[in-house]
Amino acid sequence: MDFFRSKADRAPAVDLKRLPRHIAIIMDGNGRWAKKRGMPRTAGHAAGAENFRTIATYCKEIGLEYLTVYAFSTENWKRPPDEVSAIMGLLKKYLLEAIGQMERDRVKMEFFGDLSPLTPELRQLCERTREISRHYEGCQVNICLNYGGRDELLRGAMNYAKDCLEGKADPNHLTQEQFGRYLFSRGVPDPDLVIRPSGELRLSNFLLWQSAYSEFYFTDVLWPDFSKVELHKAIAAYQNRDRRFGGV
Ligand code: IPE
Ligand code: IPE
Ligand code: MG
Repeated sequence: MDFFRSKADRAPAVDLKRLPRHIAIIMDGNGRWAKKRGMPRTAGHAAGAENFRTIATYCKEIGLEYLTVYAFSTENWKRPPDEVSAIMGLLKKYLLEAIGQMERDRVKMEFFGDLSPLTPELRQLCERTREISRHYEGCQVNICLNYGGRDELLRGAMNYAKDCLEGKADPNHLTQEQFGRYLFSRGVPDPDLVIRPSGELRLSNFLLWQSAYSEFYFTDVLWPDFSKVELHKAIAAYQNRDRRFGGV
């Protein structure tokens, strides 16, 4: 078997031939990471954004096909305006840097979520990133931005209903596969592995439809500390699971 060992200590070996095709991560714990250090929550978001870059690059290096990250939920608007604008500012910074390196990295970038409440500048940056990387093959990174699983399902239902009214869809016949095309994740296989750092044991409205048969991995490590070693632990745990999909 072709085992891969990271240079980092304590990283369990991972079988590169049996990688999950799609890993999804709830990037949680930035605020607590900062608080532990006596820093403002926004410093935690900056550290979290930096870690996203590290982990996304690593996923590409090991040959992962799809990485989906939860960056900002439909519920995160409840946070203080200063914190929301700091997060949006970090996104802008990240996208500008990503655009500058796209030809080199060749990572295909997609966005899941309703981008319409974002500032026109940020929205345009998302569109540009999506457009430039549209034809890249290899790793695809999906950033969930103003994303909510329930919101996604409602939008899907509304668009499907519209298609029915316009005679483009038949309400008597709808398969799971057809409905999947009304979701932000259209064309992307379901996540095999969903990771949530920070000790919370919930989905918080993430990929409700798509995670029906995902394997879950929870850890107390906070997102800015979620290193390549932690990723190896999650993949190693996944590789020890028995996925039955309702069969025997
Ligand atoms: C995740 O970290 C980032 C976002 C939700 C945008 P948090 O900000 O939720 O960090 P904690 O959970 O408060 O520690
Ligand atoms: C989920 O984390 C959303 C993101 C990581 C972007 P939250 O911190 O918002 O989730 P709750 O409030 O703990 O459920
Ligand atoms: Mg949180």
